[in-house]
Amino acid sequence: MPTRILSGVQPSGKLHLGNYFGAIKQHIELQALPDAEPYYFIADFHAMTTVQDASKLREYVLGVALDYLALGLDPQKSVFYRQSDVPEVTELAWMLGAVTGMGLLERAHSYKDKVAKGIKPSVGLFYYPVLMAADILIYKPKFVPVGQDQVQHVEMTQDMAQYFNNTYKREVFVRPEARLNQTAKVPGVDGEKMSKSYGNTIDLQLEGKELKKVVMSVKTDSTPVEAPKDPNTCNVFALYSLFANAAEKQALSGRYLAGGMGYGEAKKALLEMLEAYFLTYRAKRKDLAANLDYVNAVLKDGAERARLVARKTLDEAKEVTGLK
Ligand code: ADP
Ligand code: TRP
Repeated sequence: MPTRILSGVQPSGKLHLGNYFGAIKQHIELQALPDAEPYYFIADFHAMTTVQDASKLREYVLGVALDYLALGLDPQKSVFYRQSDVPEVTELAWMLGAVTGMGLLERAHSYKDKVAKGIKPSVGLFYYPVLMAADILIYKPKFVPVGQDQVQHVEMTQDMAQYFNNTYKREVFVRPEARLNQTAKVPGVDGEKMSKSYGNTIDLQLEGKELKKVVMSVKTDSTPVEAPKDPNTCNVFALYSLFANAAEKQALSGRYLAGGMGYGEAKKALLEMLEAYFLTYRAKRKDLAANLDYVNAVLKDGAERARLVARKTLDEAKEVTGLK
């Protein structure tokens, strides 16, 4: 039996290093597991809770598709699709909502955090975890690889699966487990968690002068050039460590501790790492951007494959609820 894995990413802006190391890298790597059957999708219905401009939504959806494919998503290994191309999830979301108590949704941290950040508290934003539960349960995956911030949503999904199965006394849904990403929080240029809502990101697409400008703006303390520096508290070192191997990390750490190296030099080392690491990605992304027919065909094929599974589960749910 292959192990089905499922995850979604919201097209709510341009993807950055935090998204890459916190989520995408793991998604790509999971494709290499011999028995993995990954399903990855672009959560455009979810993004509607924050992106309410048609051209922006289109741009971000395409951006995520290009990013995933350029970073190594292999359509032969993964089913890759756009959430809204599988409208069955919205039907299932309604059914799950009918057996879910308000209290469960009222406990969602993500909703409260988003409202605290100034996002409009719409019904959609409140209902978001139910749609996410439908996204997951309709494919019956075993694992859902996500960052820490999404673990509560996966737990709510487990609860909703149970409410439904208990209500209708049938084991329609399988309990999914969150699979936590290993990468710790990636710092932004100001040292806070990298996030598009904080405006402190290093976007994957940046290159050349623009990338250099952002890297040079990473916040450092005011230790003078001659003095020894602490790599463990330095944002530049933290970012460098994401790319470097053990020997490279040790070498740079030695230079911090010895003194005589300014932060500018460490930033140059980081810039070189970034340029080299994403070289293939950038070239591939440009090729794909010039070949949108291919990208659209991948998404269309992914949606067709996903719908076959989604329809089957939806039929089962309709059967046990009496809708059929
Ligand atoms: P943003 O905070 O920029 O809006 P999202 O909330 O859309 O990013 O993040 C999508 C996923 O990317 C998250 O579930 C998380 O796994 C990962 N992620 C985002 N920012 C970071 C970060 N700074 N460090 C580690 N992972 C991150
Ligand atoms: N809510 C997730 C995020 O913001 C995106 C998402 C939507 C998702 N549906 C999902 C993730 C289903 C995993 C499984 O990152």
